[in-house]
Amino acid sequence: MTKKSSSPRSTPVRAAPRKKTVAPGAASGLEGGFPLGKTGRLHPPLGLGLWALGRWRPEDEARTKAAIGRALERGVRWFDTAEVYGAGRSERILGDVFYRAGPAAADAMIVTKLSWEHLRPAQVRPALMGSLQRLGRSKVDLYLVHSPDPRVPIADTMSALEALWKEGKIGAIGVSNFSVAQMAEARAALKETDVVVNQVLYNLFERADGDEILPYCRKEGIVVEAYTPLARGLLAGKYLSGTVPVGPARSTGLRERLPEAQRMARQLHDLARDARVPMASLALHWLSERGAAPLFGASQPEQVDEILAAWAARPSASVLARADAIAVDHDAG
Ligand SMILES: NC(=O)c1ccc[n+]([C@@H]2O[C@H](COP(=O)([O-])OP(=O)(O)OC[C@H]3O[C@@H](n4cnc5c(N)ncnc54)[C@H](OP(=O)(O)O)[C@@H]3O)[C@@H](O)[C@H]2O)c1
Repeated sequence: MTKKSSSPRSTPVRAAPRKKTVAPGAASGLEGGFPLGKTGRLHPPLGLGLWALGRWRPEDEARTKAAIGRALERGVRWFDTAEVYGAGRSERILGDVFYRAGPAAADAMIVTKLSWEHLRPAQVRPALMGSLQRLGRSKVDLYLVHSPDPRVPIADTMSALEALWKEGKIGAIGVSNFSVAQMAEARAALKETDVVVNQVLYNLFERADGDEILPYCRKEGIVVEAYTPLARGLLAGKYLSGTVPVGPARSTGLRERLPEAQRMARQLHDLARDARVPMASLALHWLSERGAAPLFGASQPEQVDEILAAWAARPSASVLARADAIAVDHDAG
C-alpha cells in the first residue's frame, strides 16, 4: 500500500439537500463535513468537546449526560474526549451515554486522545486499551496525540499508533497542538496511513496556532479542528463585564488582556444584536468560513441548544468581516 500523498483537499463537502422530514428540534447546518483522509468518512462540521463538563463534580453528572444526550438528539455527530479529561471520567460518561443511546449514536464519531505522558512506544497500547475500556468500544474512530513532548521523538509514537491502526483499533490517526514542522515529522513516520486531523486552539481572539497550520492543512487535506471556539464563553456573551472566574480566564490564555478582550466582546455583542444573530454565531462561522471545524464546550443542555441555534444562524459575509476587524484591531497576540 502506498502512503497517502494526494489526499482530498480539506474543503467542506456540500450538505445534501435538506430533506423535508427533519426530526422535530433537529438543528440545521450539521450535515456534510470534511473528507476524513482516505477513510471514506466525513468529519462533521461542528462538535461537542467533553473537557470539564460539569467540572467533574459528581452532582453534575446527570446534567453532563443530559448535555451530551441533547447534542446527540439534535444531530451533533462529533464528540471529543481524552484520557486526561477528568482522569478518565469524561470517556466513561461518554461511553455510558452512547451505550444507552444504542443505534441512535451508531453514526457518531468519537475522538479521544493519547496523553502527552504516554507517548513512549511501550505506553501507547495500554493507554489506548484503557480509553477503549472506559468508552466501552473495541475501536475508536479517531485517535489524536494530545500534545507533543519534546522528550519523546514523534516518529516513535507514530509508529506505535500505526501498528494499532493496522490492527483496526483506531479508525484514523490525528494530532493536536502540533506545529507545521511537527505535523510533517509525524506524517513522515507513517508508512501506510496519514495524519488526518490537527486540533488546535483557534478563535477570534486567539488565532496564532490556527493561522499557522491552516494553509498547510488545506493543501494537504488535513482537517483543522478548532478548540475553545467560544473563548470559554466570552464569545458567547458570558463575562461581557465584571470579573471572570479563574478557571475560564486561565484556560483561554486571555488572562493578560482580559479587560481588552471584554471590550472586544462587547463590540461583537452589539454587532451580533444589530445583525440579529446570536453572538456565538459570529465566533463559530468566522472559523467555519476559514475552513476550520469548531469544537465547542457546553456544561448544560440549554447551552447546547443555544450553540446549535447560533450555528444554524448564518451571519452575512460583511458581518463576519466586521467581526474579524473588531478582533484583529485589538489583537495583541
Ligand atoms: N486538544 C487540546 O489541547 C484541547 C484543549 C482545550 C479544549 N479542547 C477540546 O475542545 C473542547 C471545547 O473547549 P472549551 O470548553 O474551551 O470551548 P469553548 O466552546 O470556548 O467554551 C465552552 C464554555 O463556554 C461556555 N458556554 C457554552 N455555551 C454557552 C452559551 N450559550 N452562553 C454562554 N456561555 C456558554 C460554557 O462555560 P460554563 O461551563 O462555564 O458555563 C462552556 O463550558 C473541549 O471540551 C475539549 O474537548 C482540546
